[in-house]
Amino acid sequence: MSFLDPWSETEQNRHSDQLKRFVYQNAEEKRAGSLPHVVKQLPKQRTVQGFDSPHQTGDHLAYDLLTRAPLYQMTSHFTEVAPQAPVRGVHRHVSAPSLFCMRGKGWEMNDGRTFEFESYDLLVIPPYTVHQHGGDRDLGCEIYVPEAFRTDHLLGIAGREQHKLSEKPVFPAGTEPLYDGDKLIGYRIKKGVLGINEDIEVILGPEPSREATFQARQQAGNWSLPVENTYDRYVKLLHDEVDFCRRVNHVVLDRQESWEWTLQGKIKWLVHPEMEIAANEMWIYFQEIPPASRSGKHRHVSEELLLVLEGRGYDIHDGQRWEWEQGDLICIPPMTEHQHFCLGADRALVLSAMPSIYADFGLGGFEQIEVAPE
Ligand SMILES: [Fe+2]
Ligand SMILES: [Fe+2]
Repeated sequence: MSFLDPWSETEQNRHSDQLKRFVYQNAEEKRAGSLPHVVKQLPKQRTVQGFDSPHQTGDHLAYDLLTRAPLYQMTSHFTEVAPQAPVRGVHRHVSAPSLFCMRGKGWEMNDGRTFEFESYDLLVIPPYTVHQHGGDRDLGCEIYVPEAFRTDHLLGIAGREQHKLSEKPVFPAGTEPLYDGDKLIGYRIKKGVLGINEDIEVILGPEPSREATFQARQQAGNWSLPVENTYDRYVKLLHDEVDFCRRVNHVVLDRQESWEWTLQGKIKWLVHPEMEIAANEMWIYFQEIPPASRSGKHRHVSEELLLVLEGRGYDIHDGQRWEWEQGDLICIPPMTEHQHFCLGADRALVLSAMPSIYADFGLGGFEQIEVAPE
């Protein structure tokens, strides 16, 4: 398995960790420094799920780090449900996704409950929830999925389950459908793909040990016993977390949130840690930049991924200029001083997403370097 060589007895195992770390770090810094800060969208294609783009800055798996942009944690993908499109697949993963509706309207099924959304609304799906989305039969919808899930791989919770395939699945190159009699039960990844030396069968349905863990959480119910010591607090935490996910709404409506004038400019938050929503792996906000104006200039330890929803302009990152237009993804590496500038007669509207994990590590907050002109 050539692609998994880090796990085999190779030349690298003969060197000290400290030496390896600096060698890898040096290579990594060179790699990150060579990648662009603004990328065009990779186009969508037919998949086993429906009609989706590849991950724009690499998959969640750590193997896919620094593929297209200098981001470590954030990636994203796009999904389209055309009017009258085939029914999409159903799946589940531990990570709690947030899906932003770019246009049209649709619905989202989460563990049997259905939620409706429209343009510029955000769907927030609790961890390990079976989910499927669909578009309005006449309008369809386009969805942007910012994702801060690469740490899931490092935490050992990157597993994903496909429960149902799309009504008209297209199997990826190097795979073939897998049948039990007449029944489609999954697909087979053929020997040779990514260096594997035997076929891998991807069988539809839940993974038993993962499901057992989460079923036990689900069945935990409210905590009614007294909390008498520190350990009790964290027994209660599991009950509280699950109860919270049961109660909260799964849609943040664009029309219900309000714009704020801030040091950084005009901002409307969709997700931040103080909000009552189940998916808080990212901070997500809109920023509007008036025609011919600019945002404030700031810096934060966290990396940031922005989708340009409207307008055109450019960014300055640590003195370097990066042009962007509608549909582009702006990638801001950790600890980079940055500012957005709007060009042309129309406003620019961007959707920012930042991993919340930096704040959990005591590395949150914004350093304001220049205040927005308004
Ligand atoms: Fe998903
Ligand atoms: Fe920022």
